[in-house]
Amino acid sequence: MPVTQSAVRLINHLDRDYLRQALEHDVRTGLSATPKQLPPKWFYDAAGSELFTRITRLPEYYPTRRELSILRARAGDIAARSGADNLVELGSGTSEKTVLLLDALAARTLRSYTPVDVDAATLADAAHRLSARYPGLRVQAVCADFERHLALLPRDGRRMVAFLGGTIGNLDPGSREVFLRELRATLRPGDSLLLGADLVKATSRLVAAYDDAQGVTAAFNRNVLHVINRELGADFVPAAFEHVALYDERNDWIEMRLRASRAMRVRVAALGMTVAFAAGEEMRTEISAKFRPERLLGELSAAGFTVVERYTDPAQDFTLILAGV
Ligand code: AVJ
Repeated sequence: MPVTQSAVRLINHLDRDYLRQALEHDVRTGLSATPKQLPPKWFYDAAGSELFTRITRLPEYYPTRRELSILRARAGDIAARSGADNLVELGSGTSEKTVLLLDALAARTLRSYTPVDVDAATLADAAHRLSARYPGLRVQAVCADFERHLALLPRDGRRMVAFLGGTIGNLDPGSREVFLRELRATLRPGDSLLLGADLVKATSRLVAAYDDAQGVTAAFNRNVLHVINRELGADFVPAAFEHVALYDERNDWIEMRLRASRAMRVRVAALGMTVAFAAGEEMRTEISAKFRPERLLGELSAAGFTVVERYTDPAQDFTLILAGV
């Protein structure tokens, strides 16, 4: 049999034990809290990643299309300014948008691509797809939690760390500050950050983007209950929870919640825990912060970044910021 040298290397920082313990911890503390809450990272099993891909194609969900349009227009400029030879992508998912950056960088200096994601299956898939598309590119896929494992990421070459899609908005302000500071600490002179963030806009458009007519976002939201049922032997009835999306104008963020349509008790076997929900009780499953440009620039500079360039789309719906250190 011919031996083929694969250009893909997979590094896993999330073994089953680690994932299991992190999920147990998050579910135990989240369901014991008042109000109850669950972190958004547990949406993304194979089914959740698939639902998220469907969300990005919904007419109401503008961020992906806006970010793509910025990348289409500006990837060349971003590549030239960054001069990166290693593109590191946090929360890479299906790496769909990345192709635009890779094309632009490949025309110049690119040698390796380092996608980082919590969903091992989606990650491996994307890594092999991109490796086939760019022969000669070193693909080092890292299965990791970008809030926990920044210090373990490969540091070779001149890196551009891309954190796209507005995922920064899923961190609460305190975690965001810690994340930016820790990311800054892993970068060396010449490295850069490409950050995608959703901007404040009319509330009606924001809410529609998280409460679509086809109910795909509602299914995505309820998917976290399926994950907990499967992984922790819980008996949530997902259909008994209503999808809620609201815009919190004081904090400038979208909040997704699951609302119990009736009083119920939920058993989480693996945690030896029974949780009571009152009729109408709401559990927070995600925040998605929307930014005013000054605020984002302020947070970046407070974390030690220097803004090189700001990009936006004609409607100013979304922004990409290229920053150095
Ligand atoms: C993962 C940050 C891109 O917050 O907009 C989409 C996730 N949640 N619809 C976002 C999400 C509901 C999404 N990002």
